[in-house]
Order: sequence, then C-alpha cells, then structure tokens
Amino acid sequence: MKVIIIAILVGNLLFCFSENIYTKDNSMKTYAIDHSENLLSPLEEKAFAFLNKNRSKWTDWNVPYEDGQELYNLIVANDYKSALEIGTSTGHSTIWLALAMAKTGGKVITLEIDESRHKQALRNFAEAGVSHLIDARLGDAFKIIPTLKSNFDFVFSDATSARSANEGYTDFLKSVESKLIVGASYTMHNVTDGYGDDGRFFRYLEKLGNYKTHIIKSSSAGISVSKKIK
Ligand SMILES: C[S@@+](CC[C@H](N)C(=O)[O-])C[C@H]1O[C@@H](n2cnc3c(N)ncnc32)[C@H](O)[C@@H]1O
Repeated sequence: MKVIIIAILVGNLLFCFSENIYTKDNSMKTYAIDHSENLLSPLEEKAFAFLNKNRSKWTDWNVPYEDGQELYNLIVANDYKSALEIGTSTGHSTIWLALAMAKTGGKVITLEIDESRHKQALRNFAEAGVSHLIDARLGDAFKIIPTLKSNFDFVFSDATSARSANEGYTDFLKSVESKLIVGASYTMHNVTDGYGDDGRFFRYLEKLGNYKTHIIKSSSAGISVSKKIK
C-alpha cells in the first residue's frame, strides 16, 4: 500500500513539473523540468538567483519570467546550441537563453540597437554570471544579420520598432532565413497580445511552405514557434 501511495505522489510531482514541448522531429515530448535546487550548477545557482531577485523589476519591454522559462524549456528539450536573439533590450530573455545554452553547450548572439539598453544588458549579464555565453552586439539587426557567419538552430525575434511592426516581423525572418538549419525553431514574441503581427508574418510562413508553426498559449503575450521542417 505504502509503495502505491509513494508512486502516486511521485507521479503527481513529475506531472506538475512537466511540459509538452515540440522536439526536433516535430513530435510532442513531455519534458520534465528539474527544479531541485541541489542539482543546480554554481553558474545556474547564480543566474537563477539573479532572475528570481529581479523577477518583477524588468521595465524595458522585457519578456515576463514565464516566457523566459518557455524559451529555456524549448531550447533544452531540443538540444539547440546556436541561438540568435533580435532585440536584447536590457537582457532578461537573453539570460534565459544563456542559461539554456549552459545546459546544451551552446552560445547566444543577441542584437540591440539602443546603446543604453545594450550597456545595461551587459551589466546584467555580468551580474547574472552568464557573460561568457553571450555575444552581445550593438547595432541594427538588419545590418548585423547579413554579416553573421554562423548558422542558427534557434532564433528569438523580439524587436518590433525598427520599421513598422508588421514589416519588421516578416523582414527579420527574411534576413535570417538562409542561416536557419532544418530542425531550427524561429520563435517570435507578442503574437497574440495585439503588439505584433497582423497576420502578414504567418501568411509569409505559409507561402514558404517549409515551416510548421504552433503558438505557446500559456504565454500572455503569445510566443509562436515555427519549426523549419525541410
Ligand atoms: C521588446 S524589447 C526586447 C526585450 C528583450 N528580448 C527581453 O525580453 O529582455 C525590443 C528591443 O528591440 C530593439 N530593436 C528594435 N529594432 C531593432 C533593430 N533593428 N535591431 C536591433 N534591435 C532592435 C529595441 O531597441 C528594444 O530594446
């Protein structure tokens, strides 16, 4: 009897800390997130302490904590190793991406056009102890992306202000599309909260025909995940 009760408790615990994530082959996988503190590396301990301390203090259009977690889970579940972020701001999402990269052994390049936000992001990365995982560049993503030599298996697009929001959404994808490997996820923020695209981006994706898209609905802003399938 005792054994059955313990098995049910453990099962419930795993259920609470598990999420359904799309993986490289487009199948859904239930991924258990280990929140057990004593399994954290010193790097993770420092970064999570920073994220938790600042959880409600981000004021520069940063993603909510929960959306950072979603991005983290997606990267770890797919073992992505080469990430690009468009729109660093002061670096909240970047720190989540960097933490995921610490797990998979990858690196993240992040781009920000505003100098003061870029500088604040650099200070935040240092305080969170993740600077070595991040190549943070100051400048216009439309100018920087064509100069990047690497290919990417993960992109987080979170910049809308450079051109009109709608143009920006599609144009950012156009600028990076040739650098995305098959199996890569192109993710975009603000797809259901009215700040983002009016449908042009998704119509463009449909026309391309080689992406499979789903939306993470648990995110209040909406995160789209478009997986390159061929
Ligand atoms: C929504 S904020 C990013 C928030 C950030 N991802 C976070 O969660 O912490 C968008 C940022 O994109 C930047 N941005 C807009 N257009 C850009 C461009 N063409 N190149 C680089 N950054 C750009 C803005 O300056 C702004 O700081």
